[in-house]
Amino acid sequence: MEIKEITLKELNPEKFIEEKVRYISSVVGDDLAVNALSGGVDSSTVTMLGHRALGDKLETFFIDNGLMRENEPEHIASLFEDLGVNIELIDAKKVFFERLKGIEDPEEKREAITRAFYKDVFGPLVRKSGAKYLLQGTNYTDVEETVAGIKRQHNILEQVGINTEETYGYGIIEPLIQLRKPAIRKVAKALGLPEEIYNRPPFPGPALATRVIGEVTQERVEIVRKATKIVEDELSDTGAFQYLAILHEDGVTGIKEGKRDYGLQIEVRCWDSKDATTASPTRLPYETLDRLAERLAKEVPNVVSVTYNITKKPPSTIEAI
Ligand code: XMP
Repeated sequence: MEIKEITLKELNPEKFIEEKVRYISSVVGDDLAVNALSGGVDSSTVTMLGHRALGDKLETFFIDNGLMRENEPEHIASLFEDLGVNIELIDAKKVFFERLKGIEDPEEKREAITRAFYKDVFGPLVRKSGAKYLLQGTNYTDVEETVAGIKRQHNILEQVGINTEETYGYGIIEPLIQLRKPAIRKVAKALGLPEEIYNRPPFPGPALATRVIGEVTQERVEIVRKATKIVEDELSDTGAFQYLAILHEDGVTGIKEGKRDYGLQIEVRCWDSKDATTASPTRLPYETLDRLAERLAKEVPNVVSVTYNITKKPPSTIEAI
């Protein structure tokens, strides 16, 4: 199927919303539909479009995979409740950590998360709901990257020849497939979503697992979660494209009460970028780096080393895995 991009210049958000609402309600008819909300701009936009088109005929799940940032699941769910959208928060932490147990290879970690999501958690939820349709936030870049063989985005199914109706028993509706991120942000704003959603910095689907080197355990995610909170607090007004904390694997030698003490190493990354395909480390003032080091070493237990990434993408990538 040929998909034609609607560019930012061509987009009329109000008209786009009207057309997609009409399209979704005509496809779903009297049936039920489901979708998964993560709080990212794509899934949030799809949730609002679906809600406008279907009201109670859309069931929206937020899967708490245990890999999100501090209070993220509750915060996003309550933000949507305030907009009149009912969200079912599903506690699936155990399943995800079970799947991730003992895995260190980056691609295997991603695969484990995809499996936990589709096979163990979301698949059964969709079947139980009796829904005939799944609404997904697949965008134009996802299709482009998958077809080009750069990155296999987990939400690409039809474009790589999978017939979802035959394979899974439900059809897929992808209202954002002709748009890239800046256009989606415009639609999100026009739908009345708050600025923290339509201007949200990118955050990966596999969440904090992309920032843990080595095995992803509940304890190690908790460490990176604390570090992330500090990094986001300190860097949110820099105007940078994205900023994050990574937990390294090896015990690093440090000093505690005058004696040798093995501890943890946190790496901070902060990126200037247009679209994440290439990126450069932000030239942060030294005082900011100093404050980050102080806070991370003091507020995150056992941290003895804080580093700042100075490598461009490529050869680096934005996330660690
Ligand atoms: P990398 O690490 O590949 O990241 O340089 C490029 C951009 O994509 C985000 N990212 C993801 N987004 N699912 C997503 O929705 C993913 O699996 C994923 N992995 C990376 C990353 O945060 C950056 O903005």
